[in-house]
Amino acid sequence: MSTIDLRSDTVTMPSPAMREAMYRAELGDDVYREDPTVNRLEEMAAERLGKEAGLFVVSGTMGNLVALLTHCARGDEVILGDHAHIFLYEAGGISALGGAMVHTVPNLPNGMLDPVQVEAAVRDTQNVHFPRSRVICLENTHNRCGGAALSPEQIGTIKAVADRHGLRMHLDGARIFNAAVALGVDVAELAAPFDSVQFCFSKGLAAPVGSAIVGSKEFIEQARRNRKIVGGGMRQAGAIAAAAIVALEQMVDRLADDHANAKRLAEGLAEIPGVDIDPSTVQTNIVIFGLRNPKIAIADVTSGLAAEGIQMNAISPTQFRAVTHYGIERDDIDKTLVAFRKVMGALA
Ligand SMILES: Cc1ncc(COP(=O)(O)O)c(C=O)c1O
Repeated sequence: MSTIDLRSDTVTMPSPAMREAMYRAELGDDVYREDPTVNRLEEMAAERLGKEAGLFVVSGTMGNLVALLTHCARGDEVILGDHAHIFLYEAGGISALGGAMVHTVPNLPNGMLDPVQVEAAVRDTQNVHFPRSRVICLENTHNRCGGAALSPEQIGTIKAVADRHGLRMHLDGARIFNAAVALGVDVAELAAPFDSVQFCFSKGLAAPVGSAIVGSKEFIEQARRNRKIVGGGMRQAGAIAAAAIVALEQMVDRLADDHANAKRLAEGLAEIPGVDIDPSTVQTNIVIFGLRNPKIAIADVTSGLAAEGIQMNAISPTQFRAVTHYGIERDDIDKTLVAFRKVMGALA
């Protein structure tokens, strides 16, 4: 039985064009900056995001870590949402390796931070008791907030706080292209307020490996050193960068299909008795939902779905997450809805 894997957009397989590009990639030693494919990808990434320079890194986690190691000295404070991927799911790397403090502010359901609360989190620089506030992080789209896309206007409210206090801005833009497609804005406009942006090739864009950090030339020079410190200086990395180039060239516009499939899934789920979801909140490729009946265990639903060939993650004791991506077709969504109805019927 073939499975329909909705656990994440990280499960995507490279397209035939990516495999071909990887096979044919021109290579060199990237630590000597001699890999022409990596150099081309880094230039493309910077240009697309409207920044001076780019750096190819192994993963989104490494991209956020290297960017924040570059912004922060030990003891500096990073202000971010309490549902931020960097806070929840990156193994505390910025503290473990960078000695940075995290200062969380509650995430709003739409993925945003309240600018008043962000401002209240900024430390008084004159008081020796306090750590130094250094950088504010946002996440776009916001994974744990159901793939919410943050608009330039929303981002502007936080940028204003950063500017008032001389703080830097970092974006975890793992899915920034999903945000740009959903909002119909240029990705460079979403990146503009940030000093650094990390974005992933290996999520909705379907490349097998890699992320980029973009920022000023000077910032990326320092980040290159920090990437080396964490062991991210790769050698003939063009072998994987080639697929990331195809991702940028060919896989952005099709994200709209993933968003349409996610919406279809959300609307179908809303019609199933016992499912708790508001489809109007689904903006991109992530669908987070719950159950109305507390007696039905999420684990029983996920195992029932697995028996029907459908994989979906439980992200908390009360919530599922389904993610649409390259390789998931409209027909798969319809099959998922049939299976979900059947499993819920059996457990009710
Ligand atoms: C918002 C966000 N940031 C960062 C990451 C980390 O990316 P990676 O898994 O490549 O380390 C993820 C991964 O799912 C993510 O969803």
